[in-house]
Amino acid sequence: MIQHRIEHSLMMEKGRRILFVCICFLALLAVFGCKAKPSETPLGTPVSVHPPLGLPAVPIPSDNPPTTETIVLGRRLFYEPKLSKDDTLACAACHNPQHDFTDGQALSKGFGGAIGVRNAPTLLNVAYQPLQFWDGRALNLEQQAASPIADPIEMNQSHEVSVTKLARDSVYREMFQKAFGSEDVTLGRIEKSLASFERTLLSGNSAFDRFEYGGDKNVLTPAQVRGLALFINPQKGNCAACHTLNPNYALFTDGKFHNIGEGVADDGTIKDPGRFHQTRIDSDRGAFKTPTLRNVANTAPYMHDGNLKTLRSVVDFYAGGGNSNPYLDKEMKSIHLSGQDRSDLVEFLNSLTGEIPANVGPPQKKE
Ligand code: HEC
Ligand code: HEC
Repeated sequence: MIQHRIEHSLMMEKGRRILFVCICFLALLAVFGCKAKPSETPLGTPVSVHPPLGLPAVPIPSDNPPTTETIVLGRRLFYEPKLSKDDTLACAACHNPQHDFTDGQALSKGFGGAIGVRNAPTLLNVAYQPLQFWDGRALNLEQQAASPIADPIEMNQSHEVSVTKLARDSVYREMFQKAFGSEDVTLGRIEKSLASFERTLLSGNSAFDRFEYGGDKNVLTPAQVRGLALFINPQKGNCAACHTLNPNYALFTDGKFHNIGEGVADDGTIKDPGRFHQTRIDSDRGAFKTPTLRNVANTAPYMHDGNLKTLRSVVDFYAGGGNSNPYLDKEMKSIHLSGQDRSDLVEFLNSLTGEIPANVGPPQKKE
């Protein structure tokens, strides 16, 4: 009898414990269920980005298909100074559409006038780049977008504060609602929208494209035609070894990293380790990503350190074979270019200025 009672109370005890565990589980589910991360899947109207003449199809990540709503939101964010600590610096401060999405400076000026360490590259055709930044440290545009916001010498504002500032604005809440299905402002949603906007920054249909891919053989000047021949000739300019052209399109970059001997001191010291910083592979010392040459006539000064002021100085630099150092790329050699060759190459580079889409400037109030 006593035995039975003990067993009975043990069973009751066990039952209560199970019940307790169940209640705890349900409570946790309620707390975390309500706080589930808002969806970061774009809703709204899908957009297919049509590349202009001379460009291939735009690669689109499967988890961020562009929509009208995310692009409109991304454009607004791109010109939004609230993403910086003192509300003065938008992405466009350094990637200004009037300078073809660069800032015209050798090195960018960030928060409080702090001088950065590298030149701001154009954002035209960044959609095609396999890796972002001069050293390739960001895997894609989504991942890249968050870093300038928090960078102390760029926009200098934590992601939490950026999210809170935007969430205070009812216009943004409505835009996030339309783009992602709820008013929640999240870093992931900001990144995706900025990336989708950046994927619309395409430049093609230049005089070069109409000549090469459009069949219009009269559109380039004789000097530009000679410059193109030098550019692709491995025995002459050898430029296309890295600034590649394809049969149906030309990105003017192989998306790879090379040490061309730029930013090397006279004694051969490499001032900026470049790609080496990411890979720790010795041969990557002083290697930087091959930049696109699209619209290059409008994006001076040049190179990762903004050290070369004109296209002529770039061509003269290449004629010198790049500053010698132990990691110099094997495609870099002293090339013989006459004075006319050099000006022909510059003329050719001037033919790469393409059309920029009309709706990528600062949004108007009603947009
Ligand atoms: C203070 C100036 C400054 C601001 C503000 C700024 N950038 Fe940049 N951006 C740069 C510089 C400089 C680089 C190159 C840095 C490097 O490669 O190390 C760069 C690189 C990039 C790249 C890589 C391009 C390439 O060819 O590899 C992208 C994309 C980009 N920025 C987008 C943005 C976006 C989006 C914002 C706003 C959220 C922004 N930037 C704000 C200066 C700036
Ligand atoms: C070995 C590969 C390679 C070859 C060959 C090459 N380039 Fe480059 N080019 C690069 C890389 C890498 C950079 C960026 C280097 C840096 O910033 O340190 C660059 C930068 C440039 C820039 C500056 C662009 C900008 O936005 O800052 C121009 C212009 C240019 N190259 C034109 C040419 C021309 C013209 C030739 C042929 C005479 C040529 N390149 C040959 C790899 C190459």
